[in-house]
Amino acid sequence: MSRTPYLAGNWKMHLTKRKASALARGVAAHQGENGNRKVAVFPAFVHLDHVRRNLKGSNVILGAQNCYGKKEGAFTGEISPYMLRDMGVQVVMVGHSERRHVFGESEDMLREKVKIALRAKLDVMLCVGETLAEREANDTFRVLARQMRALKVVKPEHASRVTVAYEPVWAIGTGETATPEMAQEAHAECRRLIAEIFDEASAQAMPILYGGSVKAGNAAELLSQPDIDGALVGGASLSIDDFGPILDAAN
Ligand code: 13P
Repeated sequence: MSRTPYLAGNWKMHLTKRKASALARGVAAHQGENGNRKVAVFPAFVHLDHVRRNLKGSNVILGAQNCYGKKEGAFTGEISPYMLRDMGVQVVMVGHSERRHVFGESEDMLREKVKIALRAKLDVMLCVGETLAEREANDTFRVLARQMRALKVVKPEHASRVTVAYEPVWAIGTGETATPEMAQEAHAECRRLIAEIFDEASAQAMPILYGGSVKAGNAAELLSQPDIDGALVGGASLSIDDFGPILDAAN
């Protein structure tokens, strides 16, 4: 089955309001009317509304990098997925490795986030991936199995609103990329786990993106792997000169 290539830029804690708006316009212009690939950007919360306005009229998807696992309440400093939805956000990232490892988010918290985000009618991009120590201990598949269990809270009829991003932690921001073969192996395992949790048809339909030092120079080879359906790009998504060629590598 052919899945539409999906390219996403995770802007992390970068850019100013002006630069984020300009980059959004650049991505929208580069994407044009292209219907053969899905493109999403994930700006910082405070830039979401500016980016939304600059994406208007384009088919670029607006994403948020995180949300809290509750609808509303006394949670100072947190953002509800319902607020994101109200702001025009379409998809929210859950479980990015920086959330897991820098901010110590637990599997329980992430499960709550997945559940409430879908209830708020946001799509979910669940990020998974092993650390270097876990890979060296041959624990990659065990880690993926544990992290992918968050999808068990997803009702089968909502499976089509979920995307998985495999990002080996050791490849994020390090310049070190998984070889296409390593990435393919992990993606195939993620797809097998999706089939176990839902069914084979959902597994075949669900996009699985690769992330970790994706650049113009390695994107095409990664994207040519049978189970790699797209890329979640950090550093190289921060300028259209870098991100544009990655988008084009999907063609
Ligand atoms: P880099 O592309 O900068 O390695 O970041 C990857 C990432 O974490 C995307 O979510």
